[in-house]
This record gives sequence, C-alpha cells and structure tokens, in this order.
Amino acid sequence: MSTNAHADSVETITTDAMNAGAKPQVQSGLAGVVVAQCDIAKVDGERGTLSYRGYDIGDLACHSTFEEVVYLLWYGELPTRHELDTFAAALASEREIDDTTWQVLTMLPSDVEPMDALRTAVSTLACADPANENGKVSHQKNLRKATKLVAKFPTVVANYYRHLNGKPRIHPDPTLSHAGNFLYMLSGKPPDETRAKAMDLAMLLMAEHGFNASTFSARVTASTLSDMYAAITTAIGTLKGPLHGGANQRAMEMMLEIGEIDRVESYIKEALAAKKRIMGFGHRVYKKAPDPRSAYLRGRLYELCADLQDFHFYNLATAIAETVEAQKGLYPNVDFYAAPMLYLVGIPLELFVTIFAISRIPGWTTHVMDQYGHNRLLRPLSDYVGPEDCTYVPIDQR
Ligand code: CMC
Repeated sequence: MSTNAHADSVETITTDAMNAGAKPQVQSGLAGVVVAQCDIAKVDGERGTLSYRGYDIGDLACHSTFEEVVYLLWYGELPTRHELDTFAAALASEREIDDTTWQVLTMLPSDVEPMDALRTAVSTLACADPANENGKVSHQKNLRKATKLVAKFPTVVANYYRHLNGKPRIHPDPTLSHAGNFLYMLSGKPPDETRAKAMDLAMLLMAEHGFNASTFSARVTASTLSDMYAAITTAIGTLKGPLHGGANQRAMEMMLEIGEIDRVESYIKEALAAKKRIMGFGHRVYKKAPDPRSAYLRGRLYELCADLQDFHFYNLATAIAETVEAQKGLYPNVDFYAAPMLYLVGIPLELFVTIFAISRIPGWTTHVMDQYGHNRLLRPLSDYVGPEDCTYVPIDQR
C-alpha cells in the first residue's frame, strides 16, 4: 500500500503566502483535488470502470463473494480456498455483540434512526474492545478491530430493527454466509439462495469506492491518530446524508410514489422543472460513463423479478432511468437499482442507509489502515473572505 502526499499534482499554497496576500484557487467541494496515492480501488470516471486491488468489479460481481472481497481489500490479494475458509470462519466467529452494546441499543428512544443507533453502537463496541488504544497501534491489532467491525455491523442493525418492532434479540448463525446471516437475523428465517445472493452482490458492489465522502472523513479522523472506532463513527455520520448513502432510501420512496410506468415521464419532468434532485442519479466521478455497478445490480434485479414472476419494479426502474437520461443526461448510480433490489429482498425502507454502511465497512477499515500506514495529518486551508480588523465593543456598550 502506498499513500503519499501527492504534492506535485495540485497547486499548493502556504499560509505565509496567503497572509502575504496571495490568492489561492478554491476547489469547491474538493472536486478534482488529488490528496493521496492509493492502491485500494481504481475509480475511472472516464471509462466507467471500477476495480478493487486491480480486479474488475464485473469479475468480482460474477464470481466472488462479500467475504472474499473483504479479504482482497485487507490483504491486497485473492485468497486460496483454504485461506478464504479460515478467514470466513474467523469473521463469522466475531458476529455476536456484547451485552452492554445490546442494552444500550434497547435503551435508545424508539424514534432513533437505525444509522444513529449504529453510530452509537460503534462507540459502545469500542468500549468493549480492550485493545482499543488511541493512536498508531500495530497493523495486526487494527486488523482485529476491522474484523470485529465488519462482523458485528449486521448483528447491530438486524437486532436494533427487531427491538424497534418488539421482537426478541436473535443470535447470529455462524454456518450462514455474511449476507445470508444478516437476512436470517432480520427475519428470523434463513433466506433462500436468490435473496442471499442478491444481498451478497449489493454488499460486494458497495464495499469500496475510493475517496468518497465517508471514506475521506474516516481518513481525516485516522490522520489525527485517533482510533479506528472513532474513524468509523465519523464515516457513519458522513454516509447518512441524503447526497451520499441516504440516496438509496429516497430513490425507493420515489419509485413507490411514482407507482406506475405511465406516471414516470410527468413525474420526472415536474421534478426537474422544480430543480429537485432525482435520487439515485448523477455522480461526482462517473460523469461521462455510467456507474459500472448499476449494470450488475440491474441484472440481479431482473433475476429477482424473474424469481417472483413479477417484473413491475424492473420495468419501472428502467423507465425512470431512461427518462432521466433523456431529460437530464444523468446516469443511475449505485443506489438506483440497489433500491428496488433491496426492497424485493425484504429490507425495510428505514434500513436502506444502514445496508450501505454494512457494505462499506470493509472499504472504510481498509482506508483507515492505509492512512495509519502512511500517515500525514489531513488538514486543508480555506480562503478567508470575512471582515477583518474589527474593533471589539464590550457587551454593555453595543
Ligand atoms: N438530479 C437532478 N439534477 C442533478 C442530479 C440529480 N440527481 N445530480 C446532479 N444534478 C445536477 C445539479 O443540479 C447541477 O445542475 P446545474 O449545473 O444545472 O445546477 C449539476 O447536475 C451538477 O451537480 P453537482 O451537485 O455540482 O454535482 P456533483 O458532482 O457535486 O454531485 C451528487 C454529485 C451525487 C451529489 C449529485 O449527482 C446528486 O445530488 N445526486 C443525487 C443524490 C445521489 O443519488 N447520491 C448518491 C451518490 S452515489 C453513491 C454515493 O457516493 O453515496
């Protein structure tokens, strides 16, 4: 792994030069700014491709599993059969959550959103981990924390949801796959293969995506040499926003609101005329070519619909995508086809954002370890444009 400051590729300016009156070029939204070299994921917006550690997302979508992708991200190479079996068993053995974390979850007010509950649970999991020292701990220790986090996220989300719905806590089943066990904990019944495979694909495709906002925020926290749990709470808070992970739920709500194909055109026209953002469309990086993940999710949505012998959501989503592309030139992003797919798998709408978190935790932890490995404090500058040299007037004289 190599993450070195990429100082030659961007215009830099010192605070001294700024104080002397030099005007910096502001990169709004940090768009186009390269802050590091990285060998975790290659996100190619021009060609519309994505690879993890050099492996194309299409090959992984067709042949791999979530567990194998987690191994690939953390260790940088694909496992042998024996390595994967050992790794998957170790991951499964960490799925249970401690009683304190469970008690804290059950004590939260009933209107606390699942993402907020997950963020809270990460803080209590940190308290339950005796190895959670601040700062730059050994890579082995960080791998152990990462294993706990990836393994426990589905248990927290499924059981918090059960608690909200008055259902008893359910313990993880280590004989099921990571995705299959999540669906089992959620519903209390082992899932069929079609649904478990669909869930696995969604998680695999969302596992990593370069320096997106939540990953970058986790790296900022890690760059202060704060601990991994702290970095992950930062990431969860960032992912929650509607312009990032929150889009999948809103995309599904939009589909349900549109309801029928003959309402698609007028709905999209009106929304665009009102300058509304169509959730699940557009991307900071994939501007010239579609988000490569959406084709695989659309394919799995088709398979799910075929299994159900009902193509309503496949046809509706396709019609929306064609209309938005024709009217605004925007392609669907990862959230768009994932939304009806998750819906048909049986994921409740209010858990959609947490699915993104459960899926992205391998990427976040990989980046946190990468940041520790080549750390330099992440600290940009701003161009101050406010008032200067103001005379302070004591409060009673104002
Ligand atoms: N619907 C309508 N207009 C849009 C959309 C959209 N989904 N996305 C971008 N635009 C327009 C935007 O209004 C602006 O138009 P104009 O120049 O006329 O004002 C132009 O496109 C550029 O928008 P931007 O916000 O400057 O572009 P960005 O690259 O900063 O934004 C984005 C990327 C993802 C925030 C944006 O496309 C968006 O808000 N999409 C909807 C939310 C969404 O689906 N988010 C999930 C992103 S993918 C998964 C993830 O990373 O979490």
